[in-house]
Amino acid sequence: MDTKVYYVDEHSDEKIKEAAEVIKRGGLVVFPTETVYGLGANALDEEACRKIFKAKGRPQDNPLIVHVADFDISEYVENIQENAKKIMENFWPGPITIVVKKSSRIPMLVTANLDSVAIRMPSNKVARKLIEYAGVPIAAPSANISGRPSPTTIEHTIDDLMGKVDMIIGGDKCEFGLESTVVEVLDEKVTILRPGAVTKDMLEEIGLNVDIDPAILTKPDENLKPKSPGMKYRHYAPKAEMTIITGRIERTVDYINMKIDEMKSKGKLVGVLATDETKDLYRGGYIISVGSRKKLGLIAANLFDTLREFDKIDVDYIYAEGFEEDGLGLAIMNRMKKAASYNVINL
Ligand code: TXA
Ligand code: MG
Repeated sequence: MDTKVYYVDEHSDEKIKEAAEVIKRGGLVVFPTETVYGLGANALDEEACRKIFKAKGRPQDNPLIVHVADFDISEYVENIQENAKKIMENFWPGPITIVVKKSSRIPMLVTANLDSVAIRMPSNKVARKLIEYAGVPIAAPSANISGRPSPTTIEHTIDDLMGKVDMIIGGDKCEFGLESTVVEVLDEKVTILRPGAVTKDMLEEIGLNVDIDPAILTKPDENLKPKSPGMKYRHYAPKAEMTIITGRIERTVDYINMKIDEMKSKGKLVGVLATDETKDLYRGGYIISVGSRKKLGLIAANLFDTLREFDKIDVDYIYAEGFEEDGLGLAIMNRMKKAASYNVINL
């Protein structure tokens, strides 16, 4: 398939309209959002959405997020509870997805046969114009081949999906760089199924009673069915085996230096996911600073690009410094643990 690539910004109305025509015709368009790039199709067109699963190699039991540009979502959901309204009013447009009871308008393929649907309104203006011009909601998972790190630049999507989609639009690096927070919204309780830039604290600040799905904190049990089907797959995985080191930072650096020496003697190259504070303390290996520990937002934005860079360099092992699992650190460590297949050493 020929894939058209358009570098656009929010003022590129003609090109965004052309992309919207592709969506209307049942085609696939990769587009930017503030979290990660999405692989979009008309959410009301089952055949179009089937192509998404094929292009990504995505398992059929992993449901898609439906992206909207209008606050009136009554056509797509059964009834909207107060808690859902509160989240929409406070955080939409923005990086949070609500899981609510679906209406019959949304095809079962989109929700992988669940009776709930995940909906979000992106803040990225190109994304919202695309949805508006298409005149339909857009179903979109992250625009990566299943199992690879989510794409945070247009180049990542070109690497993964060139020739597999009708069009790729974008240009800017994604602002947040981690996928949206996914919350299941029930009358009494809000449960975080996937941590993201909208944190537990932020949800509690608007008066919600918030739980964290246990699958986020520990390695998912193969026999347990997680609430968010996506949580059970190995994800974000770089090619090399990855280990996260947590505990006192001095000890972490010593341990990783020891590993660098050990692997070097075997002719192997270690990739180190370091921070601005530590990057000069390593003696060898391929060092990438993911950012300063004082700016977790930038670390989140750089994480997937860093994992992809280790793939390009073709390192043999990756050792990564860990982060505190609170605030945005919960989302960062959630993605890192998945990338490392829960291989964590606490010193
Ligand atoms: O930031 C994002 O959310 C990006 C951009 C493109 O918007 N999209 C994204 O989609 O990350 P995807 O498909 O990679 O992740 C969707 C997650 C999966 O973990 C999936 O299992 C969960 O949302 N999900 C979707 N529908 C659900 C539902 N009805 N119930 C529970 N979890 C659901
Ligand atoms: Mg994804």
